[in-house]
Amino acid sequence: MREFAQRVERVEPSATLAVSNKAAALEAEGADVVDLSVGEPDFPTPAPVVEAGKAALDAGHTGYAPSQGIRALREAISDDLARRNVEHGAEEILVTPGAKMALYEAIQALIDEGDEVVLLDPAWVSYEAMVKLAGGSIVRVDTARHDFRLRPALHDLEAVVSDRTQLLVVNSPSNPTGAVYSDHALAGVRDLAVEHDFDVISDEIYGSITYGEEPLSLGSLDGMTDRTVTVDGFSKAYSMTGWRLGYLAGPEEVVSQATKVQSHSTTCAANFVQHAGVAALEAADDAVEEMVDAFESRRDLLVDLLADEGVDVPTPDGAFYLFLPVDEDDESWCMDAIEDAHVAAVPGRAFGSPGYARLSYANSEDRIREAVERLADEGFL
Ligand SMILES: Cc1ncc(COP(=O)(O)O)c(C=O)c1O
Repeated sequence: MREFAQRVERVEPSATLAVSNKAAALEAEGADVVDLSVGEPDFPTPAPVVEAGKAALDAGHTGYAPSQGIRALREAISDDLARRNVEHGAEEILVTPGAKMALYEAIQALIDEGDEVVLLDPAWVSYEAMVKLAGGSIVRVDTARHDFRLRPALHDLEAVVSDRTQLLVVNSPSNPTGAVYSDHALAGVRDLAVEHDFDVISDEIYGSITYGEEPLSLGSLDGMTDRTVTVDGFSKAYSMTGWRLGYLAGPEEVVSQATKVQSHSTTCAANFVQHAGVAALEAADDAVEEMVDAFESRRDLLVDLLADEGVDVPTPDGAFYLFLPVDEDDESWCMDAIEDAHVAAVPGRAFGSPGYARLSYANSEDRIREAVERLADEGFL
């Protein structure tokens, strides 16, 4: 028997796999599955971005790019961050093939075997795997009993962080709950980070998908510039999941260590894609606004339809997910929902929170109506 490295043995395959395999099998048999398990916008990439990508190919931007990213994109990102009051020059930015790679590289750069990393549950599925791959030890804080909003006094967090804490990962707006943390809560995070001298990764990939709540960037707070790695990307806001483009921004020493990881692994984000990224930041605001308006209507529709069925859920303020309370055995609930109602959702335990299912409303209003109707008819609500 071949023995694998411990770091990969520590990691489970994606928990969404069982659901998507089941959905694929049913669809192959001709079933009409409403897929609310997907984490990507159902819109095309905005035209100016596609045009810029094509123009970059025609212009021959098809070779390696600098590992850190092309200067024009890093400057455009720096300007974009400044609009959120996060001050990082082009030298303090690393362009990556997707935000996922930015998170992976930041964690590789910051976490050693045994280092303590705090996650706020429910937490996006890959944080845990990335920390485990780096050998870190994970401490989880449950935010479920406060409607998934980090409480101002941060009691739970206060109780678990200590001088041993190396890193906290914050994701607002959150995948899977859509919660946007209040300014007050984030100021509390800052106080704890300063008191115990730990770093924070602020994953802001859903930052421009919010409904009336202006999310605060942790890196904009006093005392946080030197201890925050801001991660963002183009997948969600600009519907560019397949282009693979993201970045991290932070203290120059962190950026240069993460750049080493990138230069010895993926080398760089694709050259022409980076040129398209400049167009996204400079010429796609209207398209983003249209998508966000559509998501907001769908969110309202989903919340209302669930309320009509007697299910009250905290209204998500951002992203395009809703975290639905279901049976304690959420895995069985999801497998049964797909089998009996042909509706696909992701079990909450994938995010560290059993007893819930994540529904994505990045789907048409008709399909959302259809999904709730089927779930209700089959007794899942
Ligand atoms: C919270 C969060 N962070 C990061 C990512 C990674 O996005 P990408 O690698 O496509 O930029 C995702 C994608 O699902 C996400 O939901």
